[in-house]
Amino acid sequence: MDKNFLHVDDWSLDEILGSLDLATEVKAKLKNRENYKPFKDHSLAMVFAKPSARTRVSFETGFFRLGGHALFLGPSDIDMGKREPAKDVARVLSGYNDMIMARLFDHEHIIELARYADIPVVNGLTDYNHPCQIMADIFTVKEHFGQVNDLKIVYIGDGNNIVHSWLRLASRLPMHFVCACPETYLPDSDTLEAAKKTGVSQIEIIHDPGQAAKGADVIYTDVWASMGKKHELEERKRHFKEYIVDTKLMAQANPKCVFMHCLPAQRGLEVTDEVMESPACIIFPQAENRMHMQNAIMISIAGKA
Ligand code: CP
Ligand code: NVA
Repeated sequence: MDKNFLHVDDWSLDEILGSLDLATEVKAKLKNRENYKPFKDHSLAMVFAKPSARTRVSFETGFFRLGGHALFLGPSDIDMGKREPAKDVARVLSGYNDMIMARLFDHEHIIELARYADIPVVNGLTDYNHPCQIMADIFTVKEHFGQVNDLKIVYIGDGNNIVHSWLRLASRLPMHFVCACPETYLPDSDTLEAAKKTGVSQIEIIHDPGQAAKGADVIYTDVWASMGKKHELEERKRHFKEYIVDTKLMAQANPKCVFMHCLPAQRGLEVTDEVMESPACIIFPQAENRMHMQNAIMISIAGKA
């Protein structure tokens, strides 16, 4: 197994499935308050160039619950690529810590961080992808449906970092993945083609949310304007107005369909308050599972399973 976790498909299918089983085990240990401290006397450096609630709290709490100490480094501590190059940050943090988790703008920076660090590096989101999120999402799907294979997962909205991680997961795990997005907000074409080329999953990009939702097991959305693109929101509202997840759209799906969102959500834009508060909505177990899945990821790459 690679020492880093930067992209979902850096792992084989067996490694992905094994980590889902491990997440179940570690979640049970934490729920039972077992004395399980694989990271005793270890420290995790958390580098944040962008805001975060879930990622910061889930990593910090998760690492602490596993016996370690996590420290927060914000944009004024490490201004990656400006105050200091990623390759210097990598070697400095390697001298003090046992692992690095970083949330950055430029994907190349996380690659450089991982290349120069002597310790494992976990990607906590870049402009390109969000692999911990998608692992937590599929773990939540597994808990909910009791299976991970051959579900119809429909993403409605911007072809962004979340979609790239779904596409990379679909290149390992068989699924029917549909992304309904405006023609001008497509996911990265190389990532799309690479995922399709593996032939593992049925992958579609379409521009009709109602059509996409038909027979869906999961309807998933994300904000119309990601971090770094917030200034485009007014312009984006015009392009995305048909891409709102409401009860009418949910009614097109399989009756047992669930609603998922990586959060934070902008109620009234990409999703209605009614859907967020409906019985189909599993966003809070999904958010909690960030911690359990990331714990399993950290334990796996640190070789402590
Ligand atoms: N989903 C997610 O990564 O949330 P935060 O941006 O709050 O960390
Ligand atoms: N696409 C969103 C995800 C937030 C968790 C963003 O990058 O802002």
